[in-house]
Amino acid sequence: MTQNVPNSVYAERRARLAAQLGDGGIAIVPTAPERMRNRDSDYLYRHDSYFYYLTGFTEPGACLVLTSDGQSTLFCNPKDAEREIWDGYRLGPEAAVAALGVHAALPAGELDQRLPRLLENRACVWYPFATHAGLAARVDGWLNPVRARVRYGALCPPRQADLCLLVDEMRLVKDAHELALMRHAAQISAQAHIRAMQRCARMLRAGQEVREYHLDAELLHEFREHGSQAPAYGSIVAAGANACVLHYRADKAPVRSGELVLIDAGCEYDGYASDITRTFPANGRFTGPQRALYDLVLASQEAAVAATKAGARFTEPHDATVAVLAQGLLDLGLLNTNQHGSVQDVIEKRAYFPFYMHRTGHWLGMDVHDCGSYVEPSEVGQVSERRDPLSGETIQDRPSRILRPGMVLTIEPGLYVRPAPGVPEAFHHLGIRIEDDAVVHPGGCELMTRGVPVQPDEIEALMRD
Ligand code: GLY
Ligand code: MN
Ligand code: MN
Repeated sequence: MTQNVPNSVYAERRARLAAQLGDGGIAIVPTAPERMRNRDSDYLYRHDSYFYYLTGFTEPGACLVLTSDGQSTLFCNPKDAEREIWDGYRLGPEAAVAALGVHAALPAGELDQRLPRLLENRACVWYPFATHAGLAARVDGWLNPVRARVRYGALCPPRQADLCLLVDEMRLVKDAHELALMRHAAQISAQAHIRAMQRCARMLRAGQEVREYHLDAELLHEFREHGSQAPAYGSIVAAGANACVLHYRADKAPVRSGELVLIDAGCEYDGYASDITRTFPANGRFTGPQRALYDLVLASQEAAVAATKAGARFTEPHDATVAVLAQGLLDLGLLNTNQHGSVQDVIEKRAYFPFYMHRTGHWLGMDVHDCGSYVEPSEVGQVSERRDPLSGETIQDRPSRILRPGMVLTIEPGLYVRPAPGVPEAFHHLGIRIEDDAVVHPGGCELMTRGVPVQPDEIEALMRD
């Protein structure tokens, strides 16, 4: 499937942004630089997400300039027969206006010369503050010639502001084109997880040695087979105890029958990420303790899913997860009632933290940890203070974001059991996470990633096939 997002979508986004720049505002949005991995070898090029959101253009070396009257100018690499032999096709400024629907296009090499004039007499310069190292200094460099002309009557923009503040809010609520791409990315990733699970069981049944990289290979195959450009983040394929290392990467550890495998992997498709975690028994059959812990994580995820709907706060799914996990940790004897007291005590003292040390979700979009404030913008002034029961630190809380239709977030509870005094041995070294990608709707949410099952019986069934 190729999804062609029409130029009008990007033009409409630019118009909406232009309307927020204020009278005399101007925005500068560069794409990402190319980066060298090691001598003469670059990392796979990935455009900047803000730039792509406003242009749909994936070539390196480009920069968008947008003014508050809605005029858009794209600076991009010029046609160059020799460079195109080495690096590939370039659209070039001559074709860019028609191909992308911008108002003007100029060679990227003219940026330094043109920008001072474009900045002259503007009220405010908007650019992303945190995403491009050195951009502030470049802006300053473009403003210097303007300052030099002040005595001839030019006005130097008195204000600079962070463009991310505006575009983050736009990106947080996904439109129909974005959701279509995200559903597609999610479907590919779901199939990739099934493929990895099935290969794992098949190889073990055949008496073959399985390594984490064998399963990583299946993920990559399925991603690329269906047109995904790359994994959206470094795939985690963690066998056995490696699952308790939260940022583990697919490596070479053996995958043993009787152990669990945790895979956290998702593809990027046309600039949009998916993010799925499944935990499954390597040989296709959960043991009793594995199943008990898995059922608990799944129940906590179900509670979080039920709490994910328009009007709820971003923190509600997390709180729902923690309530279920806290009760389950007491029930399974991972936390001792005599020592830790009631569920309420476990929650208030954060006694679950050694087993569950991350949040239940994050925004998802072009970036896997997508942009967007987690605080409700209209309530930022409502600060309350509390003492963290574990660190003793004073923490300032602000009201959490209210979920709206079209927001996309992950729901990813987990439990990670390292050996410790009082922790039943049967659970040692088990690491379980279940992660799905949810679109917020009125009254509920849509899980885009359920093409790969989460029910333990269904996982066992597909691994038997
Ligand atoms: N894969 C990154 C995350 O789950 O947040
Ligand atoms: Mn995630
Ligand atoms: Mn993940």
